Amino acid sequence: MKLFDVYPLNNIAITRALGSYVWDDQGVQYLDMYGGHAVISIGHTHPHWVRRIEEQLEKIAFYSNSVIIPVQQQLADKLAQVSGKQDYQLFLCNSGAEANENALKLASFHTGRKKIVAFSKSFHGRTSLAVAVTDNPSIVAPVNETENVIFLPFNDVDALKACFQKEGDKIAAVITEGIQGVGGINVASDGFLQTIRALCDEHGAVFIADSVQCGYGRSGHFFAHDGAGIQADIYSMAKGMGNGFPIGGILIAPHIKPKHGMLGTTFGGNHLACAAALAVLEVIEQENLISMAKQRGMYLMNQLKAIEGIDHVRGKGLMIGFDVPEKLKGLKKQLLTEHNVFTGEAKPNVIRLLPSLALSRKQADEFLDALKESIQELLQNEG
Ligand SMILES: Cc1ncc(COP(=O)(O)O)c(C=O)c1O
Repeated sequence: MKLFDVYPLNNIAITRALGSYVWDDQGVQYLDMYGGHAVISIGHTHPHWVRRIEEQLEKIAFYSNSVIIPVQQQLADKLAQVSGKQDYQLFLCNSGAEANENALKLASFHTGRKKIVAFSKSFHGRTSLAVAVTDNPSIVAPVNETENVIFLPFNDVDALKACFQKEGDKIAAVITEGIQGVGGINVASDGFLQTIRALCDEHGAVFIADSVQCGYGRSGHFFAHDGAGIQADIYSMAKGMGNGFPIGGILIAPHIKPKHGMLGTTFGGNHLACAAALAVLEVIEQENLISMAKQRGMYLMNQLKAIEGIDHVRGKGLMIGFDVPEKLKGLKKQLLTEHNVFTGEAKPNVIRLLPSLALSRKQADEFLDALKESIQELLQNEG
């Protein structure tokens, strides 16, 4: 049987991983500055994570949400403590799109309204509502098209105010990433997030903070939106939550009340996924990874800003992007094929860095050296 060919692949088979390194089937070592798309939070194959999953696997891997699953409550308690969102409620699912799908649906149930405000260059996933609020028509199927979504320019406070003035009583939710990932590492300004908060309060709309990529400590705060000093009504989470074990979820503010049957899932919150997610939080706490991400991110950004040839270095913590000029357009490939470094990208010309939050200073330097050498090599080849 053929695999459905939807991914443009690098011709590399990864078979082993540890910390910030991965190895291919030939034994070649790569530095992972991409974190398997921002998923690897505590480092690949972390021994505590492996042990917790193994221990859980030997007891029970799955039972449905028709019984009490004690590890769900353990996870909720730990998440309350590490995120600081003590009075929020947790609903568990399996992926980022599903988290946003549930967040949007819940906002609509809660308000009885239909309109959603989303922003240019947003990415919220590929399920029907999540893709409808994603600013990329090429991945929206005809059946996902809806008139219920209003797209506004990102970080544009005036456009937001004008929209609420006109349609405020119809708006169920505003959804935004704290730092846009797929859109190219665009940081939401504090003023923008504070305005969303104020307008949602004024008009009874729900503020959804998509933290699927920028959450879980990556930005140097638990949620990137925390940096603006505001609380969202719903936070969606996934990627870093399981360090590669599929799990997603939403944190829901106390004023949004549950009703039996309102949301539901077969696999969400299963024993094994919760054990993996619990291990992630324990390691984040024990290894102080949120402040590590902040420090390492500042170091990397400062060093990157001093490198000639790349432009507009931006981001927060270990979610960093920079623009690659036309003459260096082969930079991502050069890093991978000549220096064995994985990086992420955002079309058309952005390199995205999304390494493990446990990236060491030595590994950061290894990346910076590889980057400088790659730039030199490309310039020499051109000249
Ligand atoms: C901000 C954001 N939201 C949602 C998603 C969708 O997550 P998933 O691929 O787990 O469905 C992504 C994935 O890249 C994302 O970056």
